[in-house]
Amino acid sequence: MAIETLTIRRPDDWHVHLRDGEMLRWVAPYTARQFARAIVMPNLTPPVTSSALVSSYRERIVEAAGPGFTPLMTCYLTDEAEPDELAHGFEEGIWVAAKLYPAGATTNSASGVTDVANIYPALERMQRIGMVLCVHGEVTDPAVDVFDREAVFIDRVLSPLTRDFPELRVVLEHITTRDAAEFVRDSGPNLAATVTPQHLVINRNALFAGGLRPHAYCLPVAKREEHRLAVRAAATSGSPKFFLGTDSAPHERHSKESACGCAGIFNAPYALEVYAQVFEEHGALDRFEAFASLNGPAFYRLPPNEATVTLERRDVTVPEEVGGLVPFRAGETLRWSLRA
Ligand code: NCD
Ligand code: ZN
Ligand code: ZN
Repeated sequence: MAIETLTIRRPDDWHVHLRDGEMLRWVAPYTARQFARAIVMPNLTPPVTSSALVSSYRERIVEAAGPGFTPLMTCYLTDEAEPDELAHGFEEGIWVAAKLYPAGATTNSASGVTDVANIYPALERMQRIGMVLCVHGEVTDPAVDVFDREAVFIDRVLSPLTRDFPELRVVLEHITTRDAAEFVRDSGPNLAATVTPQHLVINRNALFAGGLRPHAYCLPVAKREEHRLAVRAAATSGSPKFFLGTDSAPHERHSKESACGCAGIFNAPYALEVYAQVFEEHGALDRFEAFASLNGPAFYRLPPNEATVTLERRDVTVPEEVGGLVPFRAGETLRWSLRA
């Protein structure tokens, strides 16, 4: 008989954009409904680069999300990253990780790093104190095809970086390619990856299905079917190196449906339901808890959550709009529901 309910330890989201101000107050409860903790991305304007900025952002998140949710903060790395400041914020518990955005690679990355050589002193310190590096893994070289930017990043930046800092714990965020899945799988235990719901579900055809589909656009952009299948195989493989990171990235509708639409998919309302369906399709529901609730804490050296959540096999139709935002899978029916 098919499984009708699935109870797992409460999961965490190891990569999310909660934004700020009114948007923060609107989206944070969706993440808090599904997840106990989340690694919060620092790509606000201005970027969250100092302990003072991170501390006050953290307070605004706690207020917006309500009780029972713990934001795990990250510090935005720039060319000027100070090893002492990074170590201080880490030791004070202000942040758990630092985020590397190659300058210009994605939303609000203009202040990012122009050459990883510039942050080698920071990485050297992070390696020494055991602080995690989160990476948006795409090169920005305009000569490189958009669909190749993740694979080229691995060759040009990540592979040398992991060789130069073998003890540094690195998370390659939101992987989209066979190249990334295999590189992470074949590296040592200090390299892991997060996987989004969208990269498990859509390939690049979704961007052009009957017309241009801005709500399927995020970065790294979805790739060919072959890559989606490799990412699905990695996520459901049972390897502790792959874990849940939604990359929920809300943008107002008018910024998505525009002549120059923003990159980012808002998946927070039904992320867990989408992931569960993927694991079921792979006959891997017995591996879902590790992906959602155990592998991430183990990599970040945090205890897993004690509480549990239950998913039940009950159809749910994703609304066309949630508070003016278009959620991932809008209008589609999902097979699992999170019990309230
Ligand atoms: C993210 C955003 O909107 O902040 N967008 C996205 O397409 N994933 C940035 C990011 O994670 O690269
Ligand atoms: Zn990114
Ligand atoms: Zn992101």
